[in-house]
Amino acid sequence: MNIPVDQRLDLHAKRIVLGITGGVAAYKGAELARELVRAGASVQAVMTASAQRFVTPLLLQSLTGNPVATTQWDTTQPNAMAHINLSREADAILVAPATADFIARLALGRCDDLLSLLCLARPAERCSLLVAPAMNREMWAHPATQRNVQQVQQDGAMLLGPAAGSQACGEIGAGRMLEPDELRDGLIAHFQPKLLRGRTVLITAGPTFEALDPVRGITNRSSGKMGFAIARAAAEAGASVTLVAGPVHLPTPAGVQRLDVESACQMQAAVLPLAPQHEIFIATAAVADWRASKPAEAKIKKTAGLAAPTFELAENPDVLACVAALKDAPFCIGFAAESHDIERHAREKLQRKKLHLVVANHGPSTFGRDDNRLILVDATGSRELPQGDKLTLARALVAELAQRLQAAGL
Ligand code: CTP
Repeated sequence: MNIPVDQRLDLHAKRIVLGITGGVAAYKGAELARELVRAGASVQAVMTASAQRFVTPLLLQSLTGNPVATTQWDTTQPNAMAHINLSREADAILVAPATADFIARLALGRCDDLLSLLCLARPAERCSLLVAPAMNREMWAHPATQRNVQQVQQDGAMLLGPAAGSQACGEIGAGRMLEPDELRDGLIAHFQPKLLRGRTVLITAGPTFEALDPVRGITNRSSGKMGFAIARAAAEAGASVTLVAGPVHLPTPAGVQRLDVESACQMQAAVLPLAPQHEIFIATAAVADWRASKPAEAKIKKTAGLAAPTFELAENPDVLACVAALKDAPFCIGFAAESHDIERHAREKLQRKKLHLVVANHGPSTFGRDDNRLILVDATGSRELPQGDKLTLARALVAELAQRLQAAGL
């Protein structure tokens, strides 16, 4: 099945209270409500009085399918305790946008409106509080706001963002609310088990590009999707992740440190100094096996009557084999994209490159697609992961990896 990442139901059965406070980004809060519902969550919107000056409860009710809570004085609730009922039923409260004023109120433990009241009344051990600040850059940078933000984090809230960029007021700087899809993914990540908490993971992804001249080169059809999905899954699981990416057009997963390279030699130069600082190395990149020995400095022109050019090729370094041969090599996982005899070729790579694990797949049929079938091959045997989209497989691989590290006492 081919599930595009934006049609996944990663928040299935999650009950989310979406708090919207009064800032221009409130309109994005409405879009976020839609994203959360599309991801399978049941969403209860709670709006402050100032939020209702920017967007209406009617809009949020239409998007979530639930009446919007706006006051603690709601006599339609049988016990007249909206703040208790809402926070007891929720798996998480996400306040997006959270204004400077609302964060200040949270920091002080104020509770004279429904949203701050239910943040204070929530059972913190089973209902997390996530806060997405949105404000002008001067307001964000102000020592009072910074103090308040630190306080709410110390009190157990998790911060999502803010981002830097152009602001509603026309200024440019830090304080912009994250985009609705980034907030949705931040919430999804929050719910993932922290199987790699504190671990360090280095990943290569994508193709490499080996120049023949300044405009042409040798490359391959790898999209980088599997490597990026693994980077996201490892970060969601609590690891600190570095991703060395060949030329691909994919957004960097949240929280992942990314380095862009072009050729195999550049990938090797980026990876080798980083490898000893990481516990796990996952090589998903489709590194070109050869490069032109002497790429032309100027564009090669086609001249009528002259024969087509020929290129002498040199072998590229094997990034994975070099890392696995290091004295303090990390736990090394290789990928093998094969067209036939998948398991036999994977095992040959496991032994030749001296790896802990090889993840094999059927190369030609998976390039650029969102789903895949993986076979895990190690010294003791092989095991197939159920077919799925690449993010689901990446999460299964992360779980498998966590188990293997633990079994190996690492
Ligand atoms: N790899 C690498 N550097 C290379 C070639 C491969 O790091 N120069 C890594 C890939 O990222 C992958 C694994 O090695 O994890 C297997 O790559 P593959 O190209 O399938 O193996 P090769 O050794 O090149 O064998 P062949 O192309 O003959 O199948």
